[in-house]
Amino acid sequence: MKKAKNNRGKKTKKHTSKSIAKKKTVTKKKTVAKKTATKATKKSAKNTQSKKSIKKTPKKTATKATKKSAKNTQSKKSIKKTPKKKEKSLNEQNRTTDSYEYMSGQIPILITIKKSHGEFVPAYKLEVSAISETTELVLEKVRQELIRRVNLGIAEISNIKKTDIVEEKFEQMIKILIEKYFPDSDLETTKFLTAYLKIKSIGLGAIDLIMDDENLEEIVINQASEPIWVYHKRHGWLKTNVFLKDEAQVRHFASIIGRRVGRQINVLTPLLDAHMKGGDRVNATLSPVSTAGNTITIRKFSKDPWTITKFLKTRTISAEAAAMVWSAIQCELSTIITGGTASGKTSALNVFSSFFPPNQRIISIEDTREITLPKFLHWVPLNTVLPNQENKGEISMGDLLVNSLRMRPDRIIVGEVRRKKETETLFEAIHTGHSVYATFHANSAREVVERLTNPPLDVPKIMLPAISLIIVQFRNRRSGKRRTFQIAEITPKGDENILMQYDPKKDVLVPTKIDPITKFLNSSEDSSFFQTIKLFTGMETSEIKKDHKEKVKILNYLVENDIEAVNDVGRVIAEYYTNKENLMTYVNSNKKLEE
Ligand SMILES: Nc1ncnc2c1ncn2[C@@H]1O[C@H](COP(=O)(O)OP(=O)(O)OP(=O)(O)O)[C@@H](O)[C@H]1O
Ligand SMILES: [Mg+2]
Repeated sequence: MKKAKNNRGKKTKKHTSKSIAKKKTVTKKKTVAKKTATKATKKSAKNTQSKKSIKKTPKKTATKATKKSAKNTQSKKSIKKTPKKKEKSLNEQNRTTDSYEYMSGQIPILITIKKSHGEFVPAYKLEVSAISETTELVLEKVRQELIRRVNLGIAEISNIKKTDIVEEKFEQMIKILIEKYFPDSDLETTKFLTAYLKIKSIGLGAIDLIMDDENLEEIVINQASEPIWVYHKRHGWLKTNVFLKDEAQVRHFASIIGRRVGRQINVLTPLLDAHMKGGDRVNATLSPVSTAGNTITIRKFSKDPWTITKFLKTRTISAEAAAMVWSAIQCELSTIITGGTASGKTSALNVFSSFFPPNQRIISIEDTREITLPKFLHWVPLNTVLPNQENKGEISMGDLLVNSLRMRPDRIIVGEVRRKKETETLFEAIHTGHSVYATFHANSAREVVERLTNPPLDVPKIMLPAISLIIVQFRNRRSGKRRTFQIAEITPKGDENILMQYDPKKDVLVPTKIDPITKFLNSSEDSSFFQTIKLFTGMETSEIKKDHKEKVKILNYLVENDIEAVNDVGRVIAEYYTNKENLMTYVNSNKKLEE
């Protein structure tokens, strides 16, 4: 190690031209990453140190890093030892459950998920597949020089107003240093090195890399002595191979996150709740509030919003149940979407909002921007504002709700109803003729009624029938599956009446009373749902059934034709409302709608 460290800088410089010449003979498949590693390791490839580092480089890097010395025994040996084969043997010993690659900006990442013997939680291993150990050492030296030469005081770095200046200073210096240490690197390599140095010096380091893994829902730092945990869409909770250096680093990262969103976290304000530019939601707590250490919890924003097609494909809800929700939404029935933490309430709200007709004004009110509606809709998103350092300037959910009523909305989406004031305004909005769609924390329709009618919310029971529909989302903690658990209505007396209930054995929502003809929900007199629909549309029961069948058909058409992006789904729904005959000719012939 020492040897490499001493010679590193010079060697890299000296041999760059050679490596560039070599590069020309290399196949096109080579990545930037490989080039970088080649440069960094090329000279030292002949000595022991380089052998060591080559062995340790990930698959692609190793192949390239060894290309120069490919003719000698050592290189053959190291090629044989590239991670692909190594991985295979590890598979046998440690059961690799998953492995995939992605790009974090300019940086190629390799993720391996493994279950190790004796470990209860599978391991999530993050590797920057472009960087060999030697390159990493060079980069660390560059990083230290970078910090020395940019020479900013901590006050400057943590000054929110100076964020852009700080970033610019770093970028300029990185450019100079890359020219010094990697003078022959091409544009791609330069971009990669710049990105890597930037996240290492003024970013969140490995957290920034993990953040780009689209398979993750949550990234959690509990304290510096524990590795970072992640919640994976397919594998649940996993322990990563990423550790933060100490509590000071967790605190520093929390303040970087705060700075990125124009907020501060410090001894006086040890709690931070914010959403980042990309929509990810972040919470941070500093000790002594969190007694074991400083914490950071990041809920990742799904860049690809959930749509009804995806819900149907993942069996979250059946086409029959979705058609019923669609009818309810068409008829402007106010709906509460409920469920436990992370059960998929907000996602469901987003999904069902695509059933709105295109000629109505929709206002959404959220703390964190999570809702994404199809572009065909007439939609005004509003967001709450937290108070500033002097505790001034707060715009709460309640304030926005009151304001939205003056904006002539047809539909109001409320991100989450939690407090008494919001609940009161919500009911007021419904009573003044608006249809409202909100999420609410409860585990069943019964619990919604109980929580609403008891302190602290204390809504008089007589007001509850203003809510026409309750949709309960549920996450099975063992299997990780998310499903619609119940669809219920509120009776005129203010009690819940379950219309559909999830059957775990069949893994499907089952109507509580089945109509012998449609095999769907019985439209008998004891359900006010059908009565309301009849009243709203003037349709007879037989017409309602026909309409229901048609909706099921359209939903199945979406699935069969893979129409799943939010705007594509939105287009079909908009067509339904504006030109149904035309849509049905496409649906009946199972052809995609023309642009
Ligand atoms: N039907 C589904 N199948 C699989 N994953 C889902 C489904 N619905 C939502 N998710 C995922 O579950 C996570 C939590 O979803 P969401 O934010 O909608 O839940 P929530 O109940 O609103 O959470 P919170 O209680 O924090 O408000 C997200 O990562 C989302 O992508
Ligand atoms: Mg939510």
